[in-house]
Amino acid sequence: MSESAAKTENSTAQLRCIGCGQIALPDRFRCEHCRDLLEIIFPSWEDRGPGGLSSVALKRLWRDRRASLDPADQSGVWRFREILPEIAKEQIITIREGNTPLYELPHCAASAGVGQLYAKHQGMNPTGSFKDTGMTVAASFARQAGYKWVACASTGNTSASMAAYAARGGLHSLVLIPDGKISWSKLSQSLDYGAITCQLKTDFDGCVRVLNEVVQRMPVYLLNSVNPYRVEGQKTAAFELLEHFGWEPPDHIIVPGGNLANSSAIGKALREMKQLGFISRLPKISVIQAEGANPLIRTIRETGGEKLVPVHADTMATAIRIGNPASWKKALRVIRESEGTVEQVSEIEIALAKAEIGAEGIGCEPASAVTLAGLKKLVMQGFVKPNESVVLVLTGHVLKDSEYTLKFHRGDLFAETPFEKESHALKSQQRAPLSLEPNVEAVIELLRSAEK
Ligand code: F0G
Repeated sequence: MSESAAKTENSTAQLRCIGCGQIALPDRFRCEHCRDLLEIIFPSWEDRGPGGLSSVALKRLWRDRRASLDPADQSGVWRFREILPEIAKEQIITIREGNTPLYELPHCAASAGVGQLYAKHQGMNPTGSFKDTGMTVAASFARQAGYKWVACASTGNTSASMAAYAARGGLHSLVLIPDGKISWSKLSQSLDYGAITCQLKTDFDGCVRVLNEVVQRMPVYLLNSVNPYRVEGQKTAAFELLEHFGWEPPDHIIVPGGNLANSSAIGKALREMKQLGFISRLPKISVIQAEGANPLIRTIRETGGEKLVPVHADTMATAIRIGNPASWKKALRVIRESEGTVEQVSEIEIALAKAEIGAEGIGCEPASAVTLAGLKKLVMQGFVKPNESVVLVLTGHVLKDSEYTLKFHRGDLFAETPFEKESHALKSQQRAPLSLEPNVEAVIELLRSAEK
């Protein structure tokens, strides 16, 4: 089928409540009947597949688009547009997000005790985090729906991404962030991209509470991850990953958990891929949280997944410093249907894992490193077998939190914290900058001792 025919046959998306199944209006976030979250469904896929195409034809079309110069085709999100809600081409706001690399991590594999370990590096997106893949879809929808303002509460990456897409799309943006609890690099991005940026004297969960009221009273479109269009865009990372593997699923995918939308998106993508015949089995999807921000782990262990157990969150991995995750039910469903699991990791384990990923020449931000730290535990528990293939989803770029990295290498990340004593075990990973006289002999002397 020709490209233009595929476009006209594009399926119509609907918003459906994940709790009671009621259909909702396209710009809502919660069900009017039971207040549960909404998800996007594509009823027409049942009859004729996305864009009226078979899985074989879609795989070829998506790969061929990589050679195209059309901005939508160059985007690693919009080249999969048949599995996304339809947006008019002239409304698409893209900064060529997606198409992120898959790296092998041989040293981390050895450290974790598995044979094949890969990182799907979503930090290689234009604003340095996975948020761009969802933001391109939700911001484009906002523009198409006629909104002039978009807003989010954020631990820093959503706000950086939203500010960039709003600027590119001619929208105004409002950011609410917890005062002093996000990295400077992320804050600087939203300033530079022109958002109205407010630091509130509360945590992320407090920012969400304020913003939810604001959007009810003002014509502002909410771009937090409860936004179902963001979840749709974030699905494409999983499509890309499976494309990389020749549509043969890895055994495990490991994702960091904060507000729990990304694990939900990756799981939704894989569920759809199985329904559409792209793959015949699901990889196990496991979610890792920081010990100090572990509401999902507590929800599962203390209530069997029946009722959310919110926590007062605290972790140096500020991106996932979230105690009351909105998408917990969606994530729980993904973990259950893929037979994955959850685990929590300590601050020391996160710091060590981050240094190990950095030492592979890749790097990531602390929140992403929970995946490797969690994998080590899952291997020790026998949940991940040494001969299984594992993909870590690295969500943010190493430059997103250089203050953390510098403090780690200088040896003062854990100074005056309860982890100070335990942190001595990290010494062998630390490479503080050396101060030398501007003297050739001194540098050569250093090289000689380093060679030994
Ligand atoms: N990793 C990074 C780097 C993040 O920024 C986030 C979330 C997560 C993981 C967790 O993803 O919420 O989908 O489970 N950051 C949000 C923000 C909350 O505001 O930037 P999740």
